[in-house]
Amino acid sequence: MNFPGNLHHLLDLSGQTALVSGGASGIGAASARLLALAGARIVLADVDAEGMSDTAARIIAGGGWCHTVPTDVRDMEACEAAARFCLESSGTPSILVNSAGLIVRQDSLELSEEAWDLALDVCLKGAWLLSRAVLPHMITAGKGSIVHIGSGWSLKGGPRAVSYCAAKGGLLNMTRAMAIDHGPQGIRVNCLCPGDTDTPLLWSEQQQLGQPLAEFRAEASHRPLGRMGTADDIARAVLFLCSPMASWISGTHLLVDGGGLA
Ligand SMILES: NC(=O)c1ccc[n+]([C@@H]2O[C@H](COP(=O)([O-])OP(=O)(O)OC[C@H]3O[C@@H](n4cnc5c(N)ncnc54)[C@H](O)[C@@H]3O)[C@@H](O)[C@H]2O)c1
Repeated sequence: MNFPGNLHHLLDLSGQTALVSGGASGIGAASARLLALAGARIVLADVDAEGMSDTAARIIAGGGWCHTVPTDVRDMEACEAAARFCLESSGTPSILVNSAGLIVRQDSLELSEEAWDLALDVCLKGAWLLSRAVLPHMITAGKGSIVHIGSGWSLKGGPRAVSYCAAKGGLLNMTRAMAIDHGPQGIRVNCLCPGDTDTPLLWSEQQQLGQPLAEFRAEASHRPLGRMGTADDIARAVLFLCSPMASWISGTHLLVDGGGLA
């Protein structure tokens, strides 16, 4: 066996820099906080400046390092600027977490072309654009870990979520393609697929569907582990995938859903 004497080393991200999209809220914010706790320098990239300030303040109050860079992940130039900012402020990004996202709960007939483009641009194209901006730096460094935040609906369909299912299904297969292309350059690429997780995105679904709150909560909790997820549940899996614990894991998905798809 060739393990360090101390288990802590397997989760240690000291000296690494992580760029986290969607870091102003929910899963992105929780992931950023946990990666900071593991020693990574954090750069948040999001459209929500106020939310990013809150996350950054919590990280810095906990003794961590955090910068923010206003970024719309749909915009190629903004993604390239975010990667440059990350490099200049905090060092070469060796970790990228693509957590920016939104959901449109509409079927094919309800959906407008604009709503389709919005979901695909944020959830799929945005993850590609930010990866594209960060990859050259990872390639130069000869190492990197990219975690795309997919969904249980990367693996199966869901009702009235045509654009979201298309984006998240695409994100999972893009993960595999990127892992094939960039594995030889020392870069791991994985897709973390959460089930219903208690964040503003989930509550926007309830509002869009106009479902009574109690019924919505009961449906989201209906799974073997008997509750919906927390952002911290998902952040732990993000840390796992970014850490030396996952040194030979690439091109795959990790479903974190309380057994929901079992
Ligand atoms: N909450 C769930 O139940 C759930 C389940 C499966 C997958 N997910 C996925 O997890 C990821 C994080 O979602 P969350 O639940 O934390 O939601 P959230 O709403 O709390 O966070 C999403 C973040 O993305 C940011 N964002 C939206 N559009 C953006 C853009 N154009 N550019 C940059 N940032 C943008 C928002 O400002 C926000 O901070 C999403 O990709 C979502 O699809 C969530």
